[in-house]
Amino acid sequence: MKPNIAIACQDISVCFDEYVALNHVFLDVPEGQTIALIGPNGAGKTTLLNALSGRVPLASGSVLMQGADVTKLPIHLRVKQGLGRSFQIINIFQEMTTLENLRLAAQPMAFSNQPFWRQVSAWPELENKAREVANMVGLDDVLNAPVSSLSHGRQRAVELGLALMSDPKVLLLDEPLAGVGQAEIKTTVDVIERVRKGRTVLLVEHNMDVVMRLADEIVVMISGEILMRGTAAEVQNDQRVRQAYLGETEVVHA
Ligand SMILES: Nc1ncnc2c1ncn2[C@@H]1O[C@H](COP(=O)(O)OP(=O)(O)OP(=O)(O)O)[C@@H](O)[C@H]1O
Ligand SMILES: [Mg+2]
Repeated sequence: MKPNIAIACQDISVCFDEYVALNHVFLDVPEGQTIALIGPNGAGKTTLLNALSGRVPLASGSVLMQGADVTKLPIHLRVKQGLGRSFQIINIFQEMTTLENLRLAAQPMAFSNQPFWRQVSAWPELENKAREVANMVGLDDVLNAPVSSLSHGRQRAVELGLALMSDPKVLLLDEPLAGVGQAEIKTTVDVIERVRKGRTVLLVEHNMDVVMRLADEIVVMISGEILMRGTAAEVQNDQRVRQAYLGETEVVHA
């Protein structure tokens, strides 16, 4: 039986003026799987996540969630349909605490379409949800610490927590280990391992050891196009992939 496809793009193109950042890309992500998206700098990985989440306009093509066309839906309505994402650059309020950041992430969802008097009563739910998420991403001991005082790895965990506040079924993770020091990589990967259970993940990551550990399949992008899709072994043995990475170290230790 064919697996359900949690999120897909069909024939999408994204242009920045004359520059074609995505060129007629087709990709589907089966439910429950973790697909890693790799490729050299500027390949279009972040742009693809932006296209899926509704952050950039499409020049052509469509985005589907569970088979339903969401191309015309703005970001917050895609979130409502079960989409969550994290960013390549840390995107949190540094002076606020872990709990404050998490609560803030949930407010637009908790309060949308609700009359004002409902807002106050939603607070305990928000607080509980924020604590539950903090626990999931291993931040129990720093709930009230300003995020600026946390290590890079733990700031990444806060960011992951923001995406989890809406209970997404699909997670788009853009280099969740960017800037994380060697000593913290294992803990951060453990957190990703934990939160991806029961979810579908599209993961952009340069660290091939991490990709090997997490990904069911790997998709290789170059110059706005998908070069190939396959298992770790297939990707590592592919001549075109090796050429695309010539001069880069990530794929070389096959
Ligand atoms: N808002 C924008 N305006 C103009 N050009 C853009 C914009 N966003 C991305 N680009 C260009 O599109 C191309 C793809 O960028 P993108 O950020 O998707 O690459 P990437 O694969 O995520 O690279 P990296 O590994 O460096 O994060 C790059 O050449 C980039 O300069
Ligand atoms: Mg990027």
